[in-house]
Amino acid sequence: MSPSTHPLAGPIVAPSLLSADFARLDQALALVDPARDWVHCDVMDNHFVPNLTFGPQVVAAARRLSAAFLDVHLMIERPETLIAGFRAAGADLVTVHLEACADPAATMAAVRATGARAGLTLRPGTPFAQAEPWLEDLDLFLVMTVEPGFGGQAFMPGMLEKVRAAREWRERHGARYLIEVDGGISSATAPQCRAAGADVFVAGNAIYAQSDPRRALQELRTAVG
Ligand code: DX5
Ligand code: ZN
Repeated sequence: MSPSTHPLAGPIVAPSLLSADFARLDQALALVDPARDWVHCDVMDNHFVPNLTFGPQVVAAARRLSAAFLDVHLMIERPETLIAGFRAAGADLVTVHLEACADPAATMAAVRATGARAGLTLRPGTPFAQAEPWLEDLDLFLVMTVEPGFGGQAFMPGMLEKVRAAREWRERHGARYLIEVDGGISSATAPQCRAAGADVFVAGNAIYAQSDPRRALQELRTAVG
């Protein structure tokens, strides 16, 4: 699929591979429709978060298995050292945590220099105001709706306020970033996020832990559409 046909306006559902069966990544990715969905890849380093997942090799495998837009969420310290590797593996968008960047402007410039789109995110406890200096040029602002590190956690309703703040800032400043929510997103919680201003809906357990993941994905698309 050529990049110009990837969906770049909400609502978009992004199945998270974190909850997929890694022995059946081909089946997990077969559900995804590259014309309407993204694929979310959670990279964890056991330092920034207390969990360890995968690196560029698995992103490259996802790239070979799917033409969908690859949304790579880096929950790692010193992300700048690995950005080029994830881009080479096929990442279309790379999101970094503000708390993990020594120099956020330089890190986002490094993402953009690879040709990837640039995303920024905050832990739930980090106030929205701390992201403001970097929002102008962003492609995506991710509101974490759980503490990063694990799938299957409960949605934090208090984060809806951060989604609203991100929408208001975008309107006030004419910025272009998409607002993504990640953590505890389901057919029950996604509509509240949509109403607050979210454009991209990451979901792991609500899709891959269900008995019929294909149907669960369709339900989520309907819930946000
Ligand atoms: C958590 C990850 C999420 C995770 C969400 O740190 O960033 O992307 O896959 O999983 P669910 O949808 O199960 O809460
Ligand atoms: Zn994520």
